[in-house]
Parts: sequence; C-alpha cells; structure tokens
Amino acid sequence: MLEISDLHAYYGKSHILQGVTLSVGKNEIVSILGRNGVGRSTTLKAIMGKPAPQGSITFDGVRIAGRPPHTIARLGIGYVPEERAIFPSLSVEQNLILGVKPGRGAERWSVADTWQMFPQLRERANAPGGALSGGEQQMLTICRTLMGNPELIMIDERIGELLSEIAARGISILLVEQRLVLALRLSHRIYVMGHGRMVFEGTRDELMADAALRREWLEV
Ligand SMILES: Nc1ncnc2c1ncn2[C@@H]1O[C@H](COP(=O)(O)OP(=O)(O)O)[C@@H](O)[C@H]1O
Ligand SMILES: [Mg+2]
Repeated sequence: MLEISDLHAYYGKSHILQGVTLSVGKNEIVSILGRNGVGRSTTLKAIMGKPAPQGSITFDGVRIAGRPPHTIARLGIGYVPEERAIFPSLSVEQNLILGVKPGRGAERWSVADTWQMFPQLRERANAPGGALSGGEQQMLTICRTLMGNPELIMIDERIGELLSEIAARGISILLVEQRLVLALRLSHRIYVMGHGRMVFEGTRDELMADAALRREWLEV
C-alpha cells in the first residue's frame, strides 16, 4: 500500500533523512521506534510533502513524493502530527466535520462513532476546541483525521489502546511510538530508526531476539 525507497530530506543544509526504506501493507500496523532526533517525525512529514522528499514514495501504486498535502490526503493518507492541529475557536463538532474529505467514498468513521468512543468529547460537542484538555485535543485530532476516511493513518502521538479500535475498522496504521512494550504488543511489524535511516525491520520476536540491536539503538 505505502512503499518508500531511498527517501532523503533536508532541513536547510542538514541531511536529515539519509535513505529511508519502509513499507506498510493493507490492514497492517507498523511502528517506527528509535531515539529522539533520529528522524521519525521527519519521515512522516516528508511523506506529507514537507520537508520536500527526494526518492520514491508510492501509495496504492501512485507516486506521491512532492505532491501537495491536500492531494495526498485525498488519495487516502491521514496524518496526525505531534503538534495538535485543532481549530481552537471552532467547536468540537465543527472540528470533526472539517475532517470530512469529499469524494473519499464510504464513511469508515462518523461523528456518532466519535461520540460513542469518547463520551467525554460528546459532552463537550459545542465547546471551543481550544477549551479542551491536552488529552481531549489529542482524541479530537485523531477522530478528525479518521473523519477523512483514510486508508492509511500515520500517527505521531502517544495513542495507546485506542490503536486496536482504529485497526478494527480495517485501516493501515503507521505509528511513531516511544514506548517499546506497547509497540511490540500492537504492531505487526516494527522498524527501528537510527540516524536518518532504518537499522532494523522485522517482527516483535525478531526484535526481542536481538539484544545487541536494542542496546545500540533503543535503550538509554
Ligand atoms: N524544523 C526543523 N528545522 C531544522 N531541523 C529540524 C527541524 N525539525 C527537526 N529537525 C532536526 O531533524 C532531526 C530529526 O528530527 P525528528 O524527525 O523530529 O526526530 P524524531 O521524531 O525521531 O525525534 C533532529 O536532529 C532535529 O533537530
Ligand atoms: Mg518526533
């Protein structure tokens, strides 16, 4: 579904992504682990077009590298950035409705689904988004992205158990996760990122079997 090969990206003169290769299959949950600053967030940002990606990125066979973010979103990729991106003066419900992407086919996620999963958001449906707590804003950001009916959602957030609920909708997930134990439990496949490139790709059992790799790239 998502295929990335030899992806490079720069911030100014800093060569941040140095040949990232990564794939996510249909209905697969894939995590990118790694220490702070290795380029996990930049990988997701470059997929969305900024910083400008160099290399090959295809989604369902369509080349998306360098296309504008709204085009990429319409093709079926949802992105939940690290920084919350709600509209603070619009209501919770208006924020959700803004996530709808016309022409994205059958709804996978509705406002009603959001209320059911997060009753605390329903209680605040008419409150301005900016009045929510940090955790509630995170829920709102994720639900708004799901309203766009993505085939693949890329999440740069601590999301935890909610992940299995999202996966149950038949959606692919690319997750940046800090917490090793959680990533191991919930992911089908795991990448470990070193400085600007992947240093491991495999299953949970393969990662557990490789203590040297974990020591070098994950443990502090
Ligand atoms: N907007 C930016 N401008 C310049 N350098 C940046 C910017 N964002 C991130 N970086 C640098 O790029 C590298 C990778 O950052 P990032 O992708 O955020 O890492 P991670 O998400 O793995 O912690 C770091 O060295 C960071 O300092
Ligand atoms: Mg990050």
